Amino acid sequence: MKKLKSTSAEETEKTGKKIAMTVKPFDVICLFGSLGAGKTVFVQGICKGLAVKDFVNSPSFKIVNEYRGKFPVYPEPRQKPRFSKTGMGKRQKFTRCGVYHIDLYRLNSAGEINDLGLDEYIYGNGIAIIEWAEKLGKKNLPKKRIEIYIKIKSENEREIKWRRYP
Ligand SMILES: Nc1ncnc2c1ncn2[C@@H]1O[C@H](COP(=O)(O)OP(=O)(O)O)[C@@H](O)[C@H]1O
Ligand SMILES: [Mg+2]
Repeated sequence: MKKLKSTSAEETEKTGKKIAMTVKPFDVICLFGSLGAGKTVFVQGICKGLAVKDFVNSPSFKIVNEYRGKFPVYPEPRQKPRFSKTGMGKRQKFTRCGVYHIDLYRLNSAGEINDLGLDEYIYGNGIAIIEWAEKLGKKNLPKKRIEIYIKIKSENEREIKWRRYP
């Protein structure tokens, strides 16, 4: 599990943007952490890294917000992307992809979540990002996922851990 300490919302956002450079279509990003931990801030960073132009906020009325993103197709797999202001290298090729931002905060049980038919997003061909993934319950988590854990250490300090699983 990779780990770092963030001391500001900006730093957390930047970490999200950096991690966006490692995701690809079909990926599911699961965020764990309490209210105010910085999950939405982190998602804003991921979305920046995916060149999403839409306004990214917690989906408060809907459970899912759908954005249009882009992700770089590298000339060579695993080649390190170059960073620019948009988070993407200038000479890279891009593919468009849907970004599905899901927030399970107001849901109470795995059953309730099942009824929503979120699978089309989670197992769709875009990139799914799930806030409050703990609400899915361990056995309902997507088998393949990127896990992000954000823990509040003090007012402005957060511990961020992440890994690709399995
Ligand atoms: N290091 C930090 N990382 C992320 N957010 C921080 C940090 N320090 C303070 N904050 C503040 O914490 C809040 C996080 O809110 P938000 O991202 O909506 O949390 P969540 O989605 O986890 O409920 C924001 O108001 C943000 O400015
Ligand atoms: Mg949130």
